[in-house]
Amino acid sequence: MSAQKIQIFDTTLRDGEQVPGCKLNMQEKLVIARQLELLGVDVIEAGFPVSSPGDFEAVKAIAAQTREATVCGLTRAVENDIRVAADALKLAKYPRIHTGIGTSESHIKFKLRTTQEDVIERAVAAVKLAKSFVEDVEFYAEDAGRADNVFLARVCEAAIQAGATVLNIPDTTGYCLPHEYGAKIKYLYENVKGVEKVRLSTHCHNDLGLATANSIAGIMNGALQIECTINGVGERAGNTALEEVVMIMRQHPYLNLDTNINTKLLTETSNLVSHMMRMPVQPNKAIVGSNAFSHSSGIHQDGVIKHRETYEIIDPRDVGVDNSSIVLTARSGRAALAYRLQKIGYDFSKETLDKAYALFLQVADNKKEVVDEDLHSLVEQENLIAAN
Ligand code: KIV
Ligand code: ZN
Repeated sequence: MSAQKIQIFDTTLRDGEQVPGCKLNMQEKLVIARQLELLGVDVIEAGFPVSSPGDFEAVKAIAAQTREATVCGLTRAVENDIRVAADALKLAKYPRIHTGIGTSESHIKFKLRTTQEDVIERAVAAVKLAKSFVEDVEFYAEDAGRADNVFLARVCEAAIQAGATVLNIPDTTGYCLPHEYGAKIKYLYENVKGVEKVRLSTHCHNDLGLATANSIAGIMNGALQIECTINGVGERAGNTALEEVVMIMRQHPYLNLDTNINTKLLTETSNLVSHMMRMPVQPNKAIVGSNAFSHSSGIHQDGVIKHRETYEIIDPRDVGVDNSSIVLTARSGRAALAYRLQKIGYDFSKETLDKAYALFLQVADNKKEVVDEDLHSLVEQENLIAAN
């Protein structure tokens, strides 16, 4: 049976860009959108057009430039938002309007100060209006993670009847546990009339560090789209990281799920977004952190040198990294030192290597990392070539 394709909906330029300090100018947004298209994302959420003239122009320019991916604009369930988004998306080859409203008790009572019935009415009116401009309308049930499933199913059913093509079930506050979020998606599949005609989408936030796990639970229970951002940038603790969900699907073939992402472009895309948003990636970040493929302890280095898969579940070349790196520190062993010395041209006997190792430890105890330059100096100063 061929693998089920999961659509990748990237919201780096919308949910990601709304983070303080991550603001991008028009040129930067266009460059990132082009890179996302090259990467193979199915949908680019380009912005929230009504929010500012700058965002309107950015969505318009991305819509005009993008020829392969769907370009999406966010709106509230508000008439003017939807008209403005439709205008911004006019030049898109594949336009999508993403509209929605709060569905949890807290959103309905405290944010919207209204009733469940009114929420359903507003949702239906918004989807119908969006549908009068574009065929592809995604409805988001904001704070679905904390919403009552019975009410959520009613809203979803009404949105489908009004013409929605995709239903986004956001865990807006990152509160759900994976089994709860998976069960929510399953419940909707089993209880919403017409659900087979649409695509359910995950949209998870990372407040408890569960965004990736929740997204995977969602697709294992039938969701067919994941909303995510490069490097997991986004509100508060961020959104689901694109590179993580894509590599999970790739590294677990028995899930029989696949995406259109060219994984070899993941690292360069991560670097580009980090650079343009001036938002450094933590070194130990899964897949794209600078330490994701480095090995520093002696035991691990020895294992990787003998057989890469001993301590690596991903071939770094699959995500666009040239090679695993063996970082020399005071915790490194003889095998790693011999390996590095060989790489830079020194093939020492066991005796010379022992001598070199003792000298290396003295240097390493005073430095975070011993680099090739240090090794050359050590070999020259101690005349190890002659001693070999
Ligand atoms: O987190 C959220 O609920 C959102 C919606 C606006 C889609 O970003
Ligand atoms: Zn969000």
